[in-house]
Amino acid sequence: MKTGKLTREIIFVETVEALAEEGVRFFTEVVEGAVEARGRCMVALSGGSTPRKMHALLAQKPYCSGIPWSKVHLCWGDERCVSADSRWSNYGRAREDLLDNIDIPIGNVHPMPGHLLPEEGALRYEKEIPEAFDLVFLGLGADGHTASLFPDHSALEERKRRVVPVTGGDPDVPRLTITFPVINKARNVVFLVSGKEKAEMVKSVIEDHEPHLPASHVLPASGSLTWMLDREAATLLSKETIGA
Ligand code: 6PG
Repeated sequence: MKTGKLTREIIFVETVEALAEEGVRFFTEVVEGAVEARGRCMVALSGGSTPRKMHALLAQKPYCSGIPWSKVHLCWGDERCVSADSRWSNYGRAREDLLDNIDIPIGNVHPMPGHLLPEEGALRYEKEIPEAFDLVFLGLGADGHTASLFPDHSALEERKRRVVPVTGGDPDVPRLTITFPVINKARNVVFLVSGKEKAEMVKSVIEDHEPHLPASHVLPASGSLTWMLDREAATLLSKETIGA
């Protein structure tokens, strides 16, 4: 039920496989609601390695057959400015894991223009993304970054532009990223986080709300914020948080 204010939820699952299933369940649920309410669903996919299992599962029956792909638009929250055939391309990997295996109209797939000069790509993509996403998937870096919003970067302060060029991360290449105004305007934001190497950062963001960590500033104004964590990523969380 939409309350006009931020709703927060933490979902704990045992394994990275169960994390993929939870992601697919949530995706399917949001698509259903958005299509019913607005006739289409605007989704921003995350980059990195964690969502790959979810993308691959989403492409499998029966999951993919339950999705009205003609009404789903897929965008990206960030991209490395490399060719789509590069192993570093978020779009390229999603194409392999998901897009090549589902029946989605090509006009519904909106890769970030990583082949253009970053500034040009950012200005162009800003016009392509919706006023508000129905669903934004995010990952969490071990340094607390999310999308390609890195600690101490000026992009964290951006309040007007919706897509900006940045550099940094691993690989340290020019990138495009949506900004906090876009993330925090979304109807649903989901962090998919797996592995013990992320446990410290999960605690710092969820429990300690460390202000210098970019992920701490993901606070959708009137949307839902859902953390999906596997057991390892949740290792350092307190009983209160886990029990809440
Ligand atoms: C990127 C990502 C980035 C990612 C985190 C977590 O393009 O690099 O969007 O924000 O989500 O770095 O990456 P892993 O899932 O690979 O740990």
